Amino acid sequence: MRLDIHTSEFRANPYPFFRELREYDPVHRLDALDCWLVTRYADVQAVLEDSARFSSQGIGTDPEYGPDSVLHGRSLVGMDPPRHTCLRGLTIRSLSPRLVKQFENRTRLLARELISKIQNKTHIDFIADYAVPLPMLPLFEVLGIDLSSNSFLQWKEWIQMLLTWRRQGRELYAREQAQIIFENLCHLMELRKKDPRDDVISYLVRNVVPSHSVIPSEVEGSPACKKVTTEDCFGIVRLLLVAGTEASTNLMGNALLALLNHRHCIEVLKKDPLLIPKFVEEVMRFDGPVVGVLRRATMDLELCGRKIRSGDLVIPLFASANHDESVFPQSGCLDLYRSQEQKHLAFGAGIHYCPGTFFARTQTRIAIEEWLSAFSNFNRDETQKLEYLDSFLFRGLKSLELKI
Ligand code: HEM
Repeated sequence: MRLDIHTSEFRANPYPFFRELREYDPVHRLDALDCWLVTRYADVQAVLEDSARFSSQGIGTDPEYGPDSVLHGRSLVGMDPPRHTCLRGLTIRSLSPRLVKQFENRTRLLARELISKIQNKTHIDFIADYAVPLPMLPLFEVLGIDLSSNSFLQWKEWIQMLLTWRRQGRELYAREQAQIIFENLCHLMELRKKDPRDDVISYLVRNVVPSHSVIPSEVEGSPACKKVTTEDCFGIVRLLLVAGTEASTNLMGNALLALLNHRHCIEVLKKDPLLIPKFVEEVMRFDGPVVGVLRRATMDLELCGRKIRSGDLVIPLFASANHDESVFPQSGCLDLYRSQEQKHLAFGAGIHYCPGTFFARTQTRIAIEEWLSAFSNFNRDETQKLEYLDSFLFRGLKSLELKI
């Protein structure tokens, strides 16, 4: 089978293509990206859980933008142990339960604020008016980016750019902004060092140590943790900003579109909002925002009879695994009552398993709860074409025009 990932047909609905691959060519050679696509659930899981043979070291997350992409330069997702173990531990510890609670409250307030603005209109873009701003400000607060400081506008512009550069093809501009924001972040870290607060950046800077100084006790013991640099902290904050906003924006858009295409679910969820968490879980399986991730083979090996050479790029496709009929019967149906015994792989698996699942689930649940309680009648503006992001591995809508 010849797969052309650049067609609008593929972008709009890759699932039939993935089904064919699972059946006839489960480990598919994709010359266009010089990589292997892994499509069956068991194989995707096996690749993700074997970081010794399938490495993340030095690779980005988008083969179309290369490893040096401004969004993913030096970050956890592009590291192997032991460095990965150290920085991941630091990241997870920085997200304290108190911050998580604050995030939840702030998300609900903001959802209501955005909806009250939307309620004055008859025509909106669900992505720009709701799904882009909603994940952003609560995360800023958790990180400790001071919204009242002068640099806030710059931060806001940078994040907006992170969320839109792919939609607008502005990579060069994104790089320039990344440099400015790095300088801003260094300044902010200096401030938090002198005047620590209860936020992620304050936590991270406590762990930045010059190579000659004493190692803080909580990172002591691991040689890989001897030096957490300012650049490492920047990498963590940048990853949290990107991972915590773009995937969530895309998930919210995909979720609303799924509801519009399965209108009976709207009625069911309005009557029984306790089913919304199940809907969020099912929509992540059904049309999740991350299609797959990159790995590099560290040795010659064989997968489903295909010979993969050391150094080859391998892409385990969650979007395909999550539609594998042998695991999810009637996988093309959005089923609110689907048994959740078999876990979807939308958050990955293995050592890189998403540490932001609570944030992602909470903000999407709140986004849908508040939306459904505010609007009883909303329809897609059928005069506007649906366009997906120009990306193979990130799945989301450029816009979703609604009549309300
Ligand atoms: C719907 C939303 C989200 C989805 C679908 C998602 C998905 C993923 C996936 C698939 C990975 C694994 C990458 C790999 O294996 O290479 C990952 C990693 C990560 N995610 Fe998420 N994510 C979401 C939201 C978030 C949020 C809200 C945060 C933070 C607040 C976050 C933080 C991270 C971080 C820090 C990593 C790197 C972990 C590591 O490499 O060890 N994510 N995410």
